[in-house]
Amino acid sequence: MIRQIPFTKKQIEKVIKKYPTPFLIYDEKGIRQIARRLNKAFEWVVGKGFKNYFAVKACPNPYILEILKQENFGVDCSSLPELMLAEKTGIIGEEIMFSSNDTPQEEFKKARELGAIINLDDITHTSFLEKCAGIPEIICFRYNPGSQRTGNEIIGDPKEAKYGLTRTQLFEGYKIMKEKGVKRFGLHTMIVSNMLDSKYLIQTADMLFELVAELSKKLNIKFEFVNLGGGIGVDYKPEEKPVDIEFVSNAIKKLYEEKIITHGFAPLKIVMECGRVITGPYGFLVSKVRHVVKKYKNFVGLDSSMVDFMRPATYRAYHHISVLGKENLLLDHIYDVHGSLCENNDKFAIDRPLPEIEVDDIITLHDAGAHGRPMGSNYNGKLRCKELLLKENGEVELIRRAETEDDYFSTLSFPNSKFF
Ligand SMILES: Cc1ncc(COP(=O)(O)O)c(C=O)c1O
Repeated sequence: MIRQIPFTKKQIEKVIKKYPTPFLIYDEKGIRQIARRLNKAFEWVVGKGFKNYFAVKACPNPYILEILKQENFGVDCSSLPELMLAEKTGIIGEEIMFSSNDTPQEEFKKARELGAIINLDDITHTSFLEKCAGIPEIICFRYNPGSQRTGNEIIGDPKEAKYGLTRTQLFEGYKIMKEKGVKRFGLHTMIVSNMLDSKYLIQTADMLFELVAELSKKLNIKFEFVNLGGGIGVDYKPEEKPVDIEFVSNAIKKLYEEKIITHGFAPLKIVMECGRVITGPYGFLVSKVRHVVKKYKNFVGLDSSMVDFMRPATYRAYHHISVLGKENLLLDHIYDVHGSLCENNDKFAIDRPLPEIEVDDIITLHDAGAHGRPMGSNYNGKLRCKELLLKENGEVELIRRAETEDDYFSTLSFPNSKFF
């Protein structure tokens, strides 16, 4: 689906005067609306037990996290800096889900210090956690169903994936933790990513409800929550349809009644870790055209590059492009739209029909609010762009400055450094 851009050419020209391109701009209104929609869709969960722990990795900006905190979201962190970011934003305790893998000691220590819910990725992490940070009152395990489920292209086939405990390990893991004194339990899985087919999301809930029943009976433990993971997709392509969140929620509700309430496993909270669907569609990469050149193909060179938004380069992902002020012109030219890295995959679009493009045109890349900028590097000495927030009242605020040459050289500046 092609979403409407929340600003006009005239408005963005005014913004550009203060904050020159390139920049990522996030639409606060859109982010709040989808957060409220998700909360409302799941408000049926017994005992007001729904929470989305926003996956910080999707958009690690404290201004965005603060908005989501106000919408009753928690955060899903996967590293020490992400835990620190949550803390800085005033998000602590069980408002944090810590879902990491190959976890170093200091991350478990920090998670424990903050009182986060720890989601263990491996059975050996039970003793590792005990040694380095002690056993908490609440624990969650990440389940990997192996060949019982198929994943998708991005996250991979579950049996090939490095994440989570096998079914046998899962039973053993809860037993160990019960013996070590854990009182509260959660069960997590994350099998798909960027999934538009509701069926997979519903099947995940079904699988976890069945497991909760089995584990509870066999081990005589009571589950407090299931974590369905993230993975709700974004309809990046014009012909794709967004996930019907209400439909998914209703289907999960039926399963919950049948498998959880009827068999006495309620109250059981349902939590998620969605990132992409929350900020993805509400972020736009705004760039200016630097050069238009003709070689064997027609090329449009922007002042942004793949480091500002990695999805097209990494996954050959489609992102819609609008040329501001030229929305109603015929798409009668074919271009590759690219950045300035010496990498041939530094392209935002390949063979894309667009109106005739001129130098200084303003190009908006759609659905750029998740898993893009944070994946960027400084390869080729490229510096990443700034981030802006389009507030609900129409004002625009700087929420991250652009990187500078000093940032780039900062790691070369150390005691006795010969050059910096
Ligand atoms: C453990 C975990 N939770 C949640 C997410 C967020 O997924 P999405 O942004 O696709 O919803 C990810 C993404 O990589 C993840 O690894």
